[in-house]
Amino acid sequence: MPDACILGIESSCDETGAAVVRSGQHILSNVVASQIATHTPYGGVVPELASREHLRAIVPVVRQALADAGQTYASVDAIAVTQGPGLAGALLVGISFAKALAFALDKPLIAVNHLEGHIHAVLLEQRQSENGELHFPVLALVVSGGHTHLYLARLHENLWTYRNIGHTRDDAAGEAFDKVAKLLGLGYPGGPIIDRLSAYGDPHAVKFQTSQIKHADRRDRKLGDHAQLPADENGPQFDFSYSGIKTAVLRYVETQHLKLAIEARRLALAGQLLPGKGKPAVEDVLGFCDRQTLNLVASFQRSMVNDLVTKTLAAARAYDVQTLFVSGGVAANRELRATFEREAGMQGVPVFFPARALSTDNAAMIAAAAFPKFLRQEFVSMDFSAEAGMALAE
Ligand code: KG4
Ligand code: ZN
Repeated sequence: MPDACILGIESSCDETGAAVVRSGQHILSNVVASQIATHTPYGGVVPELASREHLRAIVPVVRQALADAGQTYASVDAIAVTQGPGLAGALLVGISFAKALAFALDKPLIAVNHLEGHIHAVLLEQRQSENGELHFPVLALVVSGGHTHLYLARLHENLWTYRNIGHTRDDAAGEAFDKVAKLLGLGYPGGPIIDRLSAYGDPHAVKFQTSQIKHADRRDRKLGDHAQLPADENGPQFDFSYSGIKTAVLRYVETQHLKLAIEARRLALAGQLLPGKGKPAVEDVLGFCDRQTLNLVASFQRSMVNDLVTKTLAAARAYDVQTLFVSGGVAANRELRATFEREAGMQGVPVFFPARALSTDNAAMIAAAAFPKFLRQEFVSMDFSAEAGMALAE
């Protein structure tokens, strides 16, 4: 197998990333410039600000990634860039820069689907264990701020193929974490702070129902019955829905009269966001949360985790998968990891996650996903463009 160094570039949302990865496995550098401080005052990502920040960061971030890797523009073998899905303006910054580099340096250019990148972030970790041997089919749960998707993944002669067997019908799981955190005056992004605060609350205190989605194919046949179906078509779908739980949290806030306390917390935490102070530590946030709020946060997280794990494992049984991957920003969640490890272990399915730092957006995963395409010489021409709504599989 050739030994290729790929420079990856990622700019689909609010992180500008550049990384150099050798042979799809060895991370030589991985630089991420986060825009969290820019978007925090608005409680979410503002697309125009994201593009502007990518423009500012892209050149220094790429230079830093090359320097950290001991590489030069001339020494890398190919340039890989995220084509989509993501914010169109943000994607275009990375794509324009990657095109300019590839053109000026006469290097091959590889377009990568961001979701495929998240899946390959797991491979970067998984190859270090079990002698790197991977048993197929793999079921990959990609769970981030924009996606909650289940893919069956297969590999044949360096060609990865994916089949979507479930997705969210409304909000993505990360979006639910972000919206609930915003609703409770906990700041942005919501996942990391809810993750840390949950350890201090009682997860059984508030009962939440996650939506039970009825699928035509589930109502009509039992899961075991699809043996007579064509092997790769019409299997059951395992969809998710997280707008209901967000509304349930809002209703709880209203009925329990928590609004005044939330507003006070929002103002207090905003005051902590003064320039140069960085993000408030969890200890600071804890000081503004009473027991009822901590119980609410822990109960919300427990419901989200249970739903994600239960549906994914049901899909794993239905499709008789041999390996489970969990990736995307929400895969950084401690309770999600622990629950998957426990439950998948009981089901006898090995489960792999990316290193926590590679769960959220980064360019190492883009360079890693580009490697099989490099081997297959799957290069793009200069007229390719961003695809904001790009799908990984139908
Ligand atoms: O993959 P990512 O960095 O960007 C997208 O592609 O969307 O994921 C960001 C999402 C945000 O919604 C963030 O709140 C969530 O991942 N997230 C977490 C945690 N860390 C990040 N959610 C739960 N627990 C975490 N520890
Ligand atoms: Zn992502």
